[in-house]
Amino acid sequence: MKGVILHGGSGTRLRPITHTEVKQLLPVAGKPVSEYALEDMIEIGIREINIIVGSVGADAVTGYYGDGSKWGVSITYTHQPKPLGIAHAVGLTEDFVAGDTFVVYLGDNLLNGGIGKLSDAFGEGRFDALVALCRVNRPQSYGVAELEEGRIVRLVEKPKQPKSNLALVGVYFFRPDIFDVIRTLKPSARGELEITEAIQKLIEEGRNVGYQEIKGWWKDTGTTEEILDANRLVLDEIERQIDGKVASETGIIGRVRVMSGASVDAQSVIKGPCHIGSGTEITHSVIGPNTSIGNNCRISGVEIEDSIIMDGCIIEGNREMRLYESIIGTSCKISKNSGIKRASKMIVGRDSDIAV
Ligand code: TTP
Repeated sequence: MKGVILHGGSGTRLRPITHTEVKQLLPVAGKPVSEYALEDMIEIGIREINIIVGSVGADAVTGYYGDGSKWGVSITYTHQPKPLGIAHAVGLTEDFVAGDTFVVYLGDNLLNGGIGKLSDAFGEGRFDALVALCRVNRPQSYGVAELEEGRIVRLVEKPKQPKSNLALVGVYFFRPDIFDVIRTLKPSARGELEITEAIQKLIEEGRNVGYQEIKGWWKDTGTTEEILDANRLVLDEIERQIDGKVASETGIIGRVRVMSGASVDAQSVIKGPCHIGSGTEITHSVIGPNTSIGNNCRISGVEIEDSIIMDGCIIEGNREMRLYESIIGTSCKISKNSGIKRASKMIVGRDSDIAV
């Protein structure tokens, strides 16, 4: 079996962050979202992976994943010139798939517990395609499956009046004949070739489309709220790991990861769950809970909770700054120069320089 991970799309709901960052590379608990997809594929034995890159940020994706040797797998790339839909992206991988079965993983989707059960079910050979479903509160925002007598009878993309609360998760197992179906698709009202429509066509042709309901959590990290939520959920499962230099152990509370080359001074408190990236220096600060700080940051005199700070940021709060539910892009500088202590919620793109 082969694997395809999607890194295209427009990411409009994650602006301004996606003006300068690829959404699938946004860090969740110290790792790009899509690296969890890669790890899930590796866990089920996939060794050949193709990554779809869009016209924005392709270099960042190829720069991060390279030829895959860091993970012991082969990674190749397919360029999708325009975000013409998930089915369009899948259609571009026919040569790579070369007649094999394959799994498609949306690079901004995170699945608790991996894809082992799905892979086992598909591996039994009964299904022409296998999808994952998850119960959600607002099915209107997702592709929704309607079931009858334990079978999927219909898939509807973002229905106004959903007939179930079972959303289609961004992981799909296919046989190569899906490419014939994709060739027959016409652009939808939003101008995309829809994967829901491709699977719907399989159902209409009387093919056996199986499903499994995901029991753990699933996150589609398409918005800033969802990215922060994903960060909380993944951090919730980390173990305490102190590889960096910590001046006072009493200041490190609970499940905290301080990576090698990071340092925390005696005047700081880190409340788990929390990830502090390598080479980062924390002084006179209170960090956490639910916070991921990237690599090589300099954080001083600030309280930060429920936030993601990307690599290379400098945050100088003068002991009068509190950040919450914030996402700060790579290499930003945030400083405090007025005398009033203020809590701020910021979503800030790469290389910004802000004084509050
Ligand atoms: P979406 O989140 O549905 O679309 P988007 O990335 O364009 O975001 P927005 O709605 O905020 O503008 O895409 C789901 C996943 O599929 C995501 O990982 C991006 C990927 N994708 C592609 O690779 N190519 C495409 O043409 C599209 C539409 C999405």
